[in-house]
Amino acid sequence: MQLNEMQTKWAQETLDKTAGKLAKVSRRSKDKIPYTTVNGVHDDKSGEGAIGWWTNGFWGGMMWQMYTLTGEEFYKEVAQDNERKLDANLMDYNKLDHDNGFKWLPTAVANYRVSGDPASRNRGLLAAANLAGRYNSAGRFIRAWNNWDDTADRTGWAIIDCMMNLPLLYWASEELGDPRFYQIAVNHANTARECFVRGDGSVNHIVSFDPVSGGMIESFGGQGYGVGSSWTRGQSWGLYGFTLSYLHTKDAAFLETAERIANYFIANIPESGLIPVDFRQPADVTWEDSTAAAIAACGLIELAKLKEGRQSGIYLDAALKMLKALTEKSFNWNEEEDELLTKCSAAYHEKEHEFSIIYGDYYFLEALMKLTGKELFIW
Ligand code: GLY
Repeated sequence: MQLNEMQTKWAQETLDKTAGKLAKVSRRSKDKIPYTTVNGVHDDKSGEGAIGWWTNGFWGGMMWQMYTLTGEEFYKEVAQDNERKLDANLMDYNKLDHDNGFKWLPTAVANYRVSGDPASRNRGLLAAANLAGRYNSAGRFIRAWNNWDDTADRTGWAIIDCMMNLPLLYWASEELGDPRFYQIAVNHANTARECFVRGDGSVNHIVSFDPVSGGMIESFGGQGYGVGSSWTRGQSWGLYGFTLSYLHTKDAAFLETAERIANYFIANIPESGLIPVDFRQPADVTWEDSTAAAIAACGLIELAKLKEGRQSGIYLDAALKMLKALTEKSFNWNEEEDELLTKCSAAYHEKEHEFSIIYGDYYFLEALMKLTGKELFIW
C-alpha cells in the first residue's frame, strides 16, 4: 500500500487533530466506559446491569491506540481500568456471548500484547474458552446470542458480526499451542462463507440453523431493512472479518470472500462517500451509519496492504473517500463535546438514528493509525 504525498499529509493531520481532541475527551471520561453521548457528554456503561454490554471493550481499545501513539501512561491506566471493570462481566455466564472478542481483544489481550501481564492473558484465555464453548459442532457455527427476556429461541442463531470475534480464538490457539480454538474459528468462517455471503458479495445478518442436525433453516434481516437486504455494518463486519481470517490462516478462500464483499461494498458507496444504514433501504430513507464507513475503511486498508498496484489503489481510495467524507460531514470537531463521529445507527428498525456510538469512534481512530503506520494491532 502506497499513500501519495497528499494522502499522507491528510492522514497525519487528521490523526493529530483527532488525538488532540481525544486528549481532552479522555480526561473528562477517564472513569467511564462510554457507549454514546447525551448532549455531547459520554454516558457510562460500567455500572451494574450495563457492564455486559457488547461494546464495552472499545473505549479501552481507543485508550491503547492513544497509548501506542503518545506513550503517555495516562492512557494505559484508563485502558487497564476498563479491563478490570469487565471482570464483573467475565464472572457472569449469562452475560457472556459471542461478543467476547469485541470485549477482551481491545482490553485484556491488547494489554497482554503490550505489557505481558499474566492476569490479562488469563482474562483473554477465559474469554476465548467461553467463546469456543458456544460452538455447535453439528452446524459448525458459533452461537451468537443467548435467549433474552422474549420469546425468540436463539439456540441455532449465528450472525455475520461474529467474524470479528474469531481473532480471539486465533490468538488463544497461538498462545496455548493448542489447535482446537483455531479449528473452531476456521470451521465457523467456512460456514459463514457458505451460508452468509451471497454470490454478489452482499451478506445476510442472521442465519438460523437447526441446533441438533446443524442444517441451515433461514436468514433474517436482523439489524438491516429486511430479509435479503444489505445492512451496511454487517457488510463491514464481513469485509473486515474475512480479511482477518485470511491474515490469521492464509487460506485464499477467505481472501476471495473478503474481496467479493469489498468489491460489492465499493460499488455501492454513494457519491457523497457517506454510508446508509442499509444499501437496500427504501430510496426516500436518508439514515446513515458512520460506523459502517469506519469499519469498512479498516478492512479496505488491510486489503490494500495485501494487494499490489491498481487493486491496492482501489481499496485505499475507497477507504479514504469514506474517511474524508466522515471528517467533513459527520464529525464533531468541538473539543468540548465527547463524540467523534455523528450519524451512527444501531439498527434500521430502531427508533433512534444518527447518534454517536463508541465503536464508530474506535474504528475511525484505528483506520488513521493504520494509514500512518502507528497502529497497535488488536484483531
Ligand atoms: N455487533 C452488533 C452490531 O454491530 O450492532
